[in-house]
Amino acid sequence: MLVITGANGQLGAAIIDHLLRTVPPDQVVASVRDPGQASALAARGVAVRAGDFARPDTLRTAFAGADQVLIVSANKLGEEARRLHQAAIGAARAAGARRILYTSHMGARPDSFFEPALNHAASEALLAAQGVAYTALRHGFYAESALHMVGRGLREGLLRTPEDGPVSWTTRADLAEADARLLTQPGRFEGLTPPLTAAEAVTMADLAALASEVTGREVRHETITDDEWLRAQVAHGVPAPVAELLLGSFRASRRGDFAAVDPTLETLLGRRPQTMRDVLARALKPTEA
Ligand SMILES: NC(=O)c1ccc[n+]([C@@H]2O[C@H](COP(=O)([O-])OP(=O)(O)OC[C@H]3O[C@@H](n4cnc5c(N)ncnc54)[C@H](OP(=O)(O)O)[C@@H]3O)[C@@H](O)[C@H]2O)c1
Repeated sequence: MLVITGANGQLGAAIIDHLLRTVPPDQVVASVRDPGQASALAARGVAVRAGDFARPDTLRTAFAGADQVLIVSANKLGEEARRLHQAAIGAARAAGARRILYTSHMGARPDSFFEPALNHAASEALLAAQGVAYTALRHGFYAESALHMVGRGLREGLLRTPEDGPVSWTTRADLAEADARLLTQPGRFEGLTPPLTAAEAVTMADLAALASEVTGREVRHETITDDEWLRAQVAHGVPAPVAELLLGSFRASRRGDFAAVDPTLETLLGRRPQTMRDVLARALKPTEA
């Protein structure tokens, strides 16, 4: 039996959707904080169980009988994230799962400038210490995160960013499909996967050029200082701690933490992963008048 957490979130829902194309629903369990929001999954024959990493007692029943548990990392930061992931990993081992999968990040490292990457490195170290087979799914940086970070500048025609480095932005949809495939391949990738990425890494200047091409109007790129960028973010209403966190991603990209490009995702999907050009063409499409 395959237990997938976070099934009410975007990634978890997409993983289950792909899984149900090849695995009978009675082999799939969705662990969610609010089962009331998962009625569509229940209607497809998936067992929906209440599981909250913040209430580890709930995970005993949520993970009971699991051969594999896929833990979708929680959208939390710092000590809270570490505590939640520790509870989920411990509960998967206690449930007797033969393999634990965890959605990590290509940039996971204990000295990252990017806070979520520190948490993922801590989770990977915990997984390695469990004495259970595990697969840390080293996801590329979500292409959707790029849109969140710089979509406004691309739409307005002037992208002003701190100094950056190339990033192999990868869509959540492609990653979800690959995760589902790996759930059906129990021996594949013991430990860390190679970086699961699209086939190219692009800079912010490249994103501006791509946006110009797909919209047919000029989008310029300018590099500004870290402080100028932080002040501009806060002026646009971004809370200062969030702006600091996002700046960390630029600092990590300068070091090359998100620059790797690897063919593993393409091999798993059996097709070319979506590119930033595909993503921008969809996101920046002019709206009908
Ligand atoms: N690779 C990247 O670049 C990148 C970018 C952004 C985020 N991420 C990570 O990828 C994860 C999935 O992304 P997404 O787009 O699906 O995010 P999302 O739609 O915001 O979903 C957040 C997920 O966190 C889960 N969660 C939060 N608190 C939890 C708790 N106490 N116990 C159990 N689950 C908890 C939610 O579970 P429920 O279904 O129970 O609500 C939900 O699945 C994020 O949470 C984040 O850790 C990665």
